[in-house]
Amino acid sequence: MTSPHLLVTGGAGFIGSNFVHHVLAHTDARVTVLDKLTYAGSSASLAGLPEDRVRLVEGDIADVALVDELVAPLTGEGDAIVHYAAESHNDNSLNDPSPFLQTNLLGTYTLLEAARKHGTRLHHISTDEVYGDLELDDPERFTEHTPYNPSSPYSSTKAGSDLLVRAWVRSFDVRATISNCSNNYGPRQHVEKFIPRQITNLLDGIRPRLYGKGENVRDWIHADDHSSAVLTILEKGRLGETYLIGADGEKSNKEVVELILQQMGRESDDYDHVTDRPGHDLRYAIDSTKLREELGWTPAYRDFEAGLAATIDWYRANEEWWRGQKAETEAKYAKAGQ
Ligand code: NAD
Ligand code: TYD
Repeated sequence: MTSPHLLVTGGAGFIGSNFVHHVLAHTDARVTVLDKLTYAGSSASLAGLPEDRVRLVEGDIADVALVDELVAPLTGEGDAIVHYAAESHNDNSLNDPSPFLQTNLLGTYTLLEAARKHGTRLHHISTDEVYGDLELDDPERFTEHTPYNPSSPYSSTKAGSDLLVRAWVRSFDVRATISNCSNNYGPRQHVEKFIPRQITNLLDGIRPRLYGKGENVRDWIHADDHSSAVLTILEKGRLGETYLIGADGEKSNKEVVELILQQMGRESDDYDHVTDRPGHDLRYAIDSTKLREELGWTPAYRDFEAGLAATIDWYRANEEWWRGQKAETEAKYAKAGQ
């Protein structure tokens, strides 16, 4: 029997590359990564992985001919497309929505058409942001039954991509599953995102920047736990189903910045409040009971402070990975008063 072959789109990005590392360590699958290597992708995130098991193809998920060529061979038992590629940052989507529509909607459509033509299994990676936001004191968390109510160009194009997957399952019997995960943290996340931005700011002697009052709550999960959940869904998930992925990690942005400051040896009020994000979602929170009870998944990282400390250590030790992103990212934020 040959080992399964996975096509991982966006596998040079933060969470996609984490998944590739996870698959290499925990299965005997071979992986082809399809990644456009946009500003957010880096071949360095795949450095050191065995060349006989991982191949990086630089290209666009909306390139019909290339996608067809890569999906055609995926007909064996366990073969699948695992679809991470996306434009992923809310702030960028507010400045220019166009690449979000192109990649998140047309790119997903292109992959679905290839999956339909070749009968290939597809797992679609999505976000809890498709559900909009919750009040701070709402006793309910997001479940698979929460109505879609996205706020930004990013989350609305992710919502649209989820709906395309659901329609291709229902109308064309495409063998697909969807997962919606909460905010990820860990190594190899682009410095535009909240946690790595503050860590690398502090390493550069810049005070952390909190949008608005910092009361907004995010439900943090380590990227390794996201990867183990996706692998569980690939192996045991029911076709056509959606699974929410979360690790009960709610924290306000203010709490997170204070922890980063403490862990980096600074006073915990040593940060600045800056211009808030327009339409800023207040709170996300995931109820992952279905994934835990039906598929037996459980997160391994239960201590956010320990996971955060390890993430800080990673950015300290890997400046060559992030240094090239930093100046351009901060210049963009400076223009927005952030
Ligand atoms: P990222 O921005 O770090 O990585 C995205 C990757 O996709 C990059 O390597 C980029 O080069 C690639 N890419 C972009 N456009 C492409 C295209 N047209 N063709 C091929 N490759 C392309 O994003 P991330 O944070 O790793 O997120 C990955 C996925 O997980 C996304 O679908 C995102 O919506 C979802 N997600 C992210 C989070 C989070 O907290 N970051 C949470 C839940 C879900
Ligand atoms: P982000 O990492 O952009 O993820 P998302 O928008 O998908 O939740 O931001 C996480 C939270 O941190 C969000 O509430 C916005 C806030 N934030 C700041 O307060 N300061 C910053 O410099 C950034 C980038 C984000």
